Amino acid sequence: MVDTSDEWIRTRTGILERRICAPDEAASDLAAESARKALEHAKVDPQEIELLIVATVTQDTLCPATACYVQEQLGIKACAAFDLNAACTGFIYGITISKAYIQAGMCDKALVIGVDLLSRVTDYEDRATCILFGDGAGAAVVGPTDDDRGILAEYLSADGKLASLIHIPAGGSRLPASVETVQNHQHYLKMSGNEVFKVAVRILGESVNQALQKCGLKVEDLSLVIPHQANIRIIEASARRLNISLDKFYINIDKYGNTSAASVPLALDEAVRKGRVKSGDLLALVAFGGGFTWGANIIRW
Ligand code: UT7
Repeated sequence: MVDTSDEWIRTRTGILERRICAPDEAASDLAAESARKALEHAKVDPQEIELLIVATVTQDTLCPATACYVQEQLGIKACAAFDLNAACTGFIYGITISKAYIQAGMCDKALVIGVDLLSRVTDYEDRATCILFGDGAGAAVVGPTDDDRGILAEYLSADGKLASLIHIPAGGSRLPASVETVQNHQHYLKMSGNEVFKVAVRILGESVNQALQKCGLKVEDLSLVIPHQANIRIIEASARRLNISLDKFYINIDKYGNTSAASVPLALDEAVRKGRVKSGDLLALVAFGGGFTWGANIIRW
């Protein structure tokens, strides 16, 4: 559909494959599936969940929140449930909010899900975006700890001046859906790739450093960095800036492409299942995305 090549995509992005969900699947279906696996892994009964956060920009419907559909699919009788829109940084924002709730004594167990079906908002006639995106979901159960492990620090930020770098112009209250908006492809995600690239390289490193500073630790203390999987060259450039070996970055963009809010939890889950994360390891989760938003969590596993 577009003038591109496998060679260009591999060398410029590091992406070899993407996953696209079935036509009858929506964000809540993938989210509920990932949540079931996370609950099973954590040995937590769904009824114990008191806070359910779904980070997404591709919600099932504009209203109600996808979190409510997920609650229903999981059979949770009562819990606080809401969606969080911080684009690709959504999971980091969600983990941070869940930590704050738990620390404040407002809940005991939270479920944080990052899910996006970017294939639903991708213009497959736009070669600047269509080669990048895939669909996915990842989830984490968050609870209190009584030892020195857990979420040690976080850093969240945003800059609305950069809103136009990644946006979906139509379908909201600014430009409601019409025949014209559909004809003009305004329901698709638009991105200024080059500018995003430059901002991303600067803020990924800054986010990790800021979060480390808050808990008095250094980059040398990190066992593994789980970055948002947007472009292999962004990850490589960030590794150079942080002066951390690329071996310490978990990379799976080759298999999934950019899955937005699902990218960090997918990579974290894979890293854990592959034995790359051991008890006591120090991890940095770090992401950037539409908004512009960015942030990092430092976690003692
Ligand atoms: O999670 C959301 C955050 N998004 C991102 O992190 C995306 C960040 N940006 C990127 O990953 C990169 O900017 C892209 C992969 C989107 C583009 O790569 P680039 O190295 O920045 O390419 P470019 O836009 O500077 O374009 C270089 C050349 C141009 O041709 P000329 O002008 O040099 O002749 C483009 O027209 O590559 C051309 N080009 C393509 N060629 C083949 C752009 N896209 C394609 C394509 N296939 N898909």
